[in-house]
Amino acid sequence: MDNYGYFDDGAREFVITRPDTPWPWINYLGTDDFFSLISGTAGGYCFCRDARFRRILRYRYNGVPMDAGGRYFYIKDGGTVWNPGWKPCRTPLDSYECRHGMGYTRITGEKGDLRCSVLFFVPPGERCEIHRVTLSNTGKNQKRFQLYSFVEWCLWNAQTDLENFQRNLSTGEVEIEGNILYHKTEYRERRNHYAFYGVNRKFDGFDTDRDTFLGPYNGFDAPEQVLAGTSGNSTAHGWSPVASHRFDFELGPGETEELVFVLGYVENPPERKFSAPGVICKTGALRLMDLFGTAGKADDAFGRLRAYWAGILGRFQVRSGEPRLDRMVNIWNQYQCMVTFNMSRSASYFESGIGRGMGFRDSNQDLAGFVHQIPERARQRILDIAATQFPDGSCYHQYQPLTRRGNHDIGSGFNDDPLWLLFGTIAYIRETGDFGILEVPVPFDNRPGTEKSLLEHLQVSFDHVTRNLGPHGLPLIGRADWNDCLNLNCFSDNPDESFQTTENRTEGSRAESLMIAGLFVVEGKDFAELLERIKAPEERIGEVREAVRKMETAIREYGWDGEWFLRAYDFNGGKVGSRENAEGKIFIESQGWCTMARIGAEEGLCDKALDAAERLLGCEYGLVLNNPAFSSYRIEYGEISSYPEGYKENAGIFCHNNPWIIIGEVLASRADDAWDHYCRISPAFIRDQRLHKVEPYVYCQMVAGKDAPKPGEGKNSWLTGTAAWNWHAVTEYLLGIKPRYDGLLIEPCLPEGFGTYRVHRVFRDAEYDLTIHSSAPGKSRFIPYEPGKHSLELFL
Ligand code: GLC
Ligand code: GLC
Repeated sequence: MDNYGYFDDGAREFVITRPDTPWPWINYLGTDDFFSLISGTAGGYCFCRDARFRRILRYRYNGVPMDAGGRYFYIKDGGTVWNPGWKPCRTPLDSYECRHGMGYTRITGEKGDLRCSVLFFVPPGERCEIHRVTLSNTGKNQKRFQLYSFVEWCLWNAQTDLENFQRNLSTGEVEIEGNILYHKTEYRERRNHYAFYGVNRKFDGFDTDRDTFLGPYNGFDAPEQVLAGTSGNSTAHGWSPVASHRFDFELGPGETEELVFVLGYVENPPERKFSAPGVICKTGALRLMDLFGTAGKADDAFGRLRAYWAGILGRFQVRSGEPRLDRMVNIWNQYQCMVTFNMSRSASYFESGIGRGMGFRDSNQDLAGFVHQIPERARQRILDIAATQFPDGSCYHQYQPLTRRGNHDIGSGFNDDPLWLLFGTIAYIRETGDFGILEVPVPFDNRPGTEKSLLEHLQVSFDHVTRNLGPHGLPLIGRADWNDCLNLNCFSDNPDESFQTTENRTEGSRAESLMIAGLFVVEGKDFAELLERIKAPEERIGEVREAVRKMETAIREYGWDGEWFLRAYDFNGGKVGSRENAEGKIFIESQGWCTMARIGAEEGLCDKALDAAERLLGCEYGLVLNNPAFSSYRIEYGEISSYPEGYKENAGIFCHNNPWIIIGEVLASRADDAWDHYCRISPAFIRDQRLHKVEPYVYCQMVAGKDAPKPGEGKNSWLTGTAAWNWHAVTEYLLGIKPRYDGLLIEPCLPEGFGTYRVHRVFRDAEYDLTIHSSAPGKSRFIPYEPGKHSLELFL
C-alpha cells in the first residue's frame, strides 16, 4: 500500500501520512453516549446521545472547502500560522501524521522546529472529549509563539441550527469563568444542559464571539485575531458563539509543554440549574476538569480506554497465515461493528445526523456484528427495537435514539422489516444462551398496557409475512424490502415527493418479493428450531414448518427463472429480474437469500444461481446489485432507476449483500469462490487508495460498479450493514465459528492450502483456544458449552 497511509496492526492503528486524503478519512470517539466524528485534519463534531437534538459542535456538511469545522489548534510562530492537522490554514508542514486508533485519534504536525501533537479521545463513561496537546521545541533556538484553540458551538438542534436564523442569531449565550468557556444557549428556558471548553492552564486571551475571532469576512483559515497575535476577549451575545483560548509560549531547545483541554457536556437536574439567577451551576464542568485536568490524569484515562478496547476486541481473535484477514477480523471489522451499534445510520460524513434515526432492519442486522462484544447492551437494543413494532407485526421503519419512539415521518410498510427481529433475537440467544429474553414483556408502539412477551413479537413478525402473501404465495413487498429503492407500488412522477414515504398504490397490487421469500425460509427454519428448543406447543412448531415448506414450494414454482432466482413480481404481476427483462435481468438479493435458504439445492439451482451471479454481476471490486443497470427512469420500479448506472441500488456494488453470496457459496461448499468474494470487498485488500477514495480501513456501503464512470470508487463509508454481514460471513462461515444454543459449532470453509489457524473465542463464561487444521470444507465438530478455559485442537 502506498499513497495516503498504512496499517500499524501492533498498535491497532491506521496511519495517515498526508493530510490531503481524497476524502476526509474519519474516526469515531466515544463508547457510551457521547460521540465524536473526527477527520484526519481534526474536522468533525460531537454530540450527546442524539446527533440531531444534542449536537455540540457546529459542522457544515458538503461545504467548501470540504470538512469545514472541527477542533482547530492554531500556532502563530512569527509570521507563520499553521495547524498540526494542516487544516484549516493548509500551511505546508515539515511533517504530518494522523493515527486513527480504537476510539482515539492522534494528530501530529511539525513546522519550523516546533512539534505539536494532539491526542483526541472520549474517556469511557464520561461526556467529554479530551484534547491532550504536547508542544515541543525540536530545534536549537529559543522559540516564542502562540497557541490558539478553537471550536464553534452548534445551538443544540442540528437541524434548526441550519435553518432558523431569524431566531438563532439572537439566542446565543455564553459564560466565562476561570479557564473555562461555557456555552449556554437556551439554558435560560427549557434546556438543562450546557457545554464547555476548558483547559488546565491560565490562558492569556480568549474569544467567544465568532465574528470577533475570525472577522466577518474571513474563513477558518485566516482568523483575524490569530493573524494579529491577539484575542478579542469577546463575550458572545446572539450571533455565533465559539470558544477559543490563547496562550503565549516561550520554549527553550528540547523543552516541552503539555496542556489538557476538556470539551464537555453537562446535564443539570432542573432544581439545580442555577447557582445564582441566570448563572449556570458549574459543578459538572468542574468535576470533569478535575478528573482529567493534568497530563497524568488524562494519560490514565487514555490507558483505561485502551484497556476497554483490548477487552472488547479480545473476545474474538484469529491468527492465520493471512495478515489481511487477521487485521479485519481482529481489529477493523469488529471496530466498525461497534460504531454501527452506536450510530446506526445517523451520523457519518454521508449521514448528516439529522435525517435518519435508528433503522428497524438496520439495527437488527447490526446486532450480528456486536452481540459477541457487548451482549448486555445487545439485549437492551433488541427490547428497544421490538417496542416500536405494531400489534400486527409491522413496524416503524426508523426510530429516534433519544426518545426510542417510532418515526412518524417515514412510517411503516417495509415488509422485510419484521423478519429482521427474528434474525437479531436469534443471533443474540445463540451468543448468550439467554432464553429468558423471550419472556420479557414488550409493548407495541411503545404504548403502556399493550405488553406481550418478546416471543409473541417474534410470532407476529413471522405471521406478518404469512398474512401478506401475493398471488404466487410469495410475500407482498409493501413499500420496499431490503432494497429501499425497489418501489414497486409507488409510481411516483412528482420529483417533490420521496420514494420512501409517498402514498403507495395498494389497491390491486400484486408486487411480491423473492428476497423476503428467501429470508422467510431462512428465518422460519431458525424460528422453528428455537420453538423446539424452548418446547413450544407442537402445533405451533408444525405451523411454522408448514409455512416454510409452502414458501419453499412457491419459490421453486414461481421464483426460478431458468438460470437464477427472480427478484420480484411487479404491481401488475410482471417478472422483475428475469431474462425476459431488457434491463435488470438479474439481482443479487434473491440469489443471496435463496441460496442461503438452499432452495432447490439438490437439483443444482443454488450452484446455477451462484454461477450466474458471478458471471453477470461480478467485477474486480465485488458483485454489483443488478445487471444490466437501468439506463432510464422506470416509474414501475421507482427509486432504483433514479440513480445513474453503477451507483447505489442501480448496479452499484452494494457491499452489504456481497456477504449473502459469500454465505451462499459456503453453504454450497464452494470455498474458493467464497474466499474470492470476500477478498474483493474487504478493505484490507484494497490496492488503490486513491481510486477507493474513502477510508481504506472500513467497509463502505457502496463501491461504484462496473457500469459507473469510475468503477472501484467507494462512497458512504462507515455506517452500513456491510460491517455486521461481513463479520457474520467471515467468522461464522469462512472461519466457521458458529455460536449455537448449546455450544459452538466449528465448520470452516476455506480454500485448500489455508492450513492451520488459531482462534481465541470468548463465549459466555467460557474461553476457547482453538487450533484448527482445515482441509476440505463440509467437516464440522460441535463443542458443547462449558464454563472455563478450554484448549482444543481440531482436524477438520
Ligand atoms: C441502506 C439502508 C438499508 C437498506 C439498503 C438498501 O443501506 O440503510 O436499510 O437495506 O440501503 O436499500
Ligand atoms: C435512499 C438510498 C438507500 C437508503 C435510503 C434510506 O433510498 O438509496 O440506500 O437505504 O435512502 O432511506
